[in-house]
Amino acid sequence: MKRIEKVACVSLGLFVLASSGCGGGRGDGKLTPQEMTDTLFAVISANREAYASAVVDRLQYQEQLIEAKEHFREDKALPLPAQMLRMSAETISQNKDALFSYALLSPWPINKQNGPRTESETVGLRIVAETGKSHYADETIGGKKYFSAYYPDKGVVEACVKCHNDHPDSRRKDFRVGDVLGGIVIRVRLDE
Ligand code: HEC
Repeated sequence: MKRIEKVACVSLGLFVLASSGCGGGRGDGKLTPQEMTDTLFAVISANREAYASAVVDRLQYQEQLIEAKEHFREDKALPLPAQMLRMSAETISQNKDALFSYALLSPWPINKQNGPRTESETVGLRIVAETGKSHYADETIGGKKYFSAYYPDKGVVEACVKCHNDHPDSRRKDFRVGDVLGGIVIRVRLDE
């Protein structure tokens, strides 16, 4: 737990300091693995929302200056919010010392890379798709112990559902507004 305490305080700085400890706040100065994944989820979702509204929505729909497109490099367009999330997650995963990793996955991915990669991811994604609620699990991967959290990712607006239903690579074509399209998986390494 000591490691979690340290990484949370160092990397998330004031956000965690204000909400849960790091020598002040709640008292014991420690985060449980679930508090850490919930905190990371709050930051990841806030970044995604900020990009979707302050960049994509504003420049594409309000200012009509530039579109967000899947093949953004070739088309000189903005990356889609899901692609921004994936690029940041990949940067984190390149750091071998990172104590956490995350991904936006789905049982019906447009991009094959976003499908479940382990049996427990298949189960976790199925549970969030069925319940629409977050799900937590302890996992052992490659002999190491992890705490994994799955948060549902819902098609909150028509644009999500329409693009996913119409996309030629989509494995599912009957999404309706409010349905779970996938899930954000956050995995935290536990001390031996
Ligand atoms: C214009 C089309 C478009 C819109 C709008 C869109 N997506 Fe996607 N979404 C994609 C594409 C393309 C990918 C694959 C991106 C990648 O990783 O390369 C993707 C990836 C995802 C994934 C990961 C699994 C997968 O299918 O690869 C989830 C979950 C997801 N989107 C949810 C959403 C939600 C929720 C919204 C609305 C808030 C949304 N998307 C809006 C096109 C779209």
